[in-house]
Amino acid sequence: MSTTSDGTPDRTQHGTPDGTVPGTSGRVVVVGSANVDLVVDVPRHPGGGETILGGELRRNPGGKGANQAVGAARAGGADTTFVGALGHDDAADLLLASLDRGGVRTDLVERVEAATGTALITVSPDGENAIVVAPGANSHVTVGAAQAERIAAADVVLAQLEIPLDVVRAAAAARRPGALLVLNAAPSRDLPDDLWAEVDVLVVNEHEAADLAGASGDGEPSVLAGLLLERVPAVVVTLGGEGSLVAERRAGGPLLTTVPAIPVEAVDTTGAGDTFCGVLAAALARGADLPDAARLAAAAGALAVTRPGAQDAVPDAADVVALAERAENPTRPT
Ligand code: RIB
Repeated sequence: MSTTSDGTPDRTQHGTPDGTVPGTSGRVVVVGSANVDLVVDVPRHPGGGETILGGELRRNPGGKGANQAVGAARAGGADTTFVGALGHDDAADLLLASLDRGGVRTDLVERVEAATGTALITVSPDGENAIVVAPGANSHVTVGAAQAERIAAADVVLAQLEIPLDVVRAAAAARRPGALLVLNAAPSRDLPDDLWAEVDVLVVNEHEAADLAGASGDGEPSVLAGLLLERVPAVVVTLGGEGSLVAERRAGGPLLTTVPAIPVEAVDTTGAGDTFCGVLAAALARGADLPDAARLAAAAGALAVTRPGAQDAVPDAADVVALAERAENPTRPT
């Protein structure tokens, strides 16, 4: 990506004719994983002990952290830094090239003596995926002085759980007062009390919400969100084709906002949730309220599922805003 005279990335490509897309304001630091995704289309996901034949092997840039960084930069228009770790292999080159194409600052990515993270992904004809991750270099992400300094300048710090919890903790500790920690608790795992206390916005799907809320079986999203609001001030429960539920703690009781899904033909859902998180963080970094940020994120996620791949499927900010506006005003001529 080109740069301006002061060395910052030139994001004019993210502008929109109607000026509603935020350009460069809003600084996001994404702390997380980067994986090379080895993807095979399958007629259905295999069961235990079963072998099935799939299609051609694809090798795509992925990883929840790197996907979210591209989401925040390309689809969200935020000044975005990725803090992560890569090996010394060609998977690392693939990821750096993709992050760069996405407009993400990669100067704080570290190269470590471990293989770049790898995700094994099967995608069924309805676009649903199943994923196993070998973390590799992601287990060696660190928040050193340089990373902490960049985090301290951010409006939003966005993290997920494919990296060690201590790294998320260090990122949370490095942010300035008033900066938000948005945690996408994926894949879900138990969180220690001190980390719960740092989270400003929790983003989870229904399964992760149930895990973290300690609810048995499939709880109603509003019930799960209510339980999670006992731990964090705000929760976004993503519901796939059903949209999302935004729950905010208020003095008079929880404020719930339903954000509808935008109907699209799903080709591949891989990374769509990451695009959602990246755009949500970018919008929050610009000062949007949480329901508005979730509406924009929903448009970005909808566009992402219409394309194959993770980072390769992240839409441009102008397309995101246009779709969000059409969803809000379906009768307005385009
Ligand atoms: O959320 C999708 C991502 O999960 C994939 O890109 C894969 O790498 C795993 O991290």
